[in-house]
Amino acid sequence: MKYAHLYSPLEMGDLRLRNRIVMAPMTRSRAQQVDDNVSELQVNYYGQRGDAGLIVTEGVHPSADGKGYNRTPGIYDDMHTAAWSAVTNKVHDRGGLIACQLMHCGRVGHALNKGQNTRFLAPSALPAKAEIFTESGMMPMPVPEAMTLAEIKSVVADYQSAAARALQAGFDAVELHCASGYLPAQFLATGSNLRDDQYGGNLDNRLRFIEEVLQAIKFETGAGRIGLRISPGNPYNDHVDGNPKETYAALLQLANRLGLAWVHAIRMASTGIDSLALSREHFTGALIGSDSFDAGEADQFIAEHRVDAVSFGRAYIANPDLVTRFAVDAPLNALDKRTIYAGEGAGGYTDYPCLPEAG
Ligand SMILES: Cc1cc2nc3c(=O)[nH]c(=O)nc-3n(C[C@H](O)[C@H](O)[C@H](O)COP(=O)(O)O)c2cc1C
Repeated sequence: MKYAHLYSPLEMGDLRLRNRIVMAPMTRSRAQQVDDNVSELQVNYYGQRGDAGLIVTEGVHPSADGKGYNRTPGIYDDMHTAAWSAVTNKVHDRGGLIACQLMHCGRVGHALNKGQNTRFLAPSALPAKAEIFTESGMMPMPVPEAMTLAEIKSVVADYQSAAARALQAGFDAVELHCASGYLPAQFLATGSNLRDDQYGGNLDNRLRFIEEVLQAIKFETGAGRIGLRISPGNPYNDHVDGNPKETYAALLQLANRLGLAWVHAIRMASTGIDSLALSREHFTGALIGSDSFDAGEADQFIAEHRVDAVSFGRAYIANPDLVTRFAVDAPLNALDKRTIYAGEGAGGYTDYPCLPEAG
């Protein structure tokens, strides 16, 4: 086989992946806006991709406050647990594995995207200097409320119950979204955290919220079913830190101490930080690399032990049968950018064609 490394199995914490092709987490904004729930649409979408070594879902908010974008799904109510069960069952029917990515947006979001009476909670009352998509066009981000100590406790508890729900719903693991300027990254970065209590100031303090969240999730799932998503130096959503290399080295060491199953690192050349090398240096668990890989480069990076698995994002949107296409070196369907987010239901979501059945 051409890409033998990509198609070899991988032990990753408590999981055993049958290949090293991971579907990257991707917000597609097709959940039900009225109740943050998934439906038959997501059952089909993830089910179509169930032969991946592992699927990481789109960002899923652990509480109504954690929602920032339009039509994103949650996992904070019994009806969410039930609806996600149908998704995980479908993926398991295909012999696959699926992790739920927990994403609390914190200060990133807009009232037009969120439910009524929800709040923008953040380490400090500083707005992200960036705009966000709403159904009324791009809008500036609001000024968030600085969280009290009691609110920090309560958000940590929200993550814990979301992790418990994820297991009840049949997810094989949970990935904590700690990239792209969302709540955990807001605590981590000096540009968004001006607190002068035990959650702000020095690096240990800025790491505290993430450590508490990871410990809370671990209590439910065990460390072998937790992954951590990072993107050191990525300025998305006004994520600004004085020394990202040092900050992320410390975060990776924390992940290592906690014995997490994997780190899922976005490599981003423009940051000047080699996030894959940094992860390897400080974290001894499995490493999933992400960003602009094709099958050949992925196979080579695995062969050279620079990563253990590779996730594919945009290629997976347009190619539900990516695992088969790579295996036979078939051309990939082109991505239709117009339907990446909130297209008309199934259009651009579950209607990309597979290769015709062989024989
Ligand atoms: C439409 C879209 C939505 C995304 N949403 C998320 C998300 O919810 N959580 C996350 O961690 N990364 C998200 N990402 C980043 C991807 O997981 C991935 O890192 C990125 O697309 C680069 O990989 P690729 O070159 O294979 O597409 C998103 C990317 C795209 C294109």
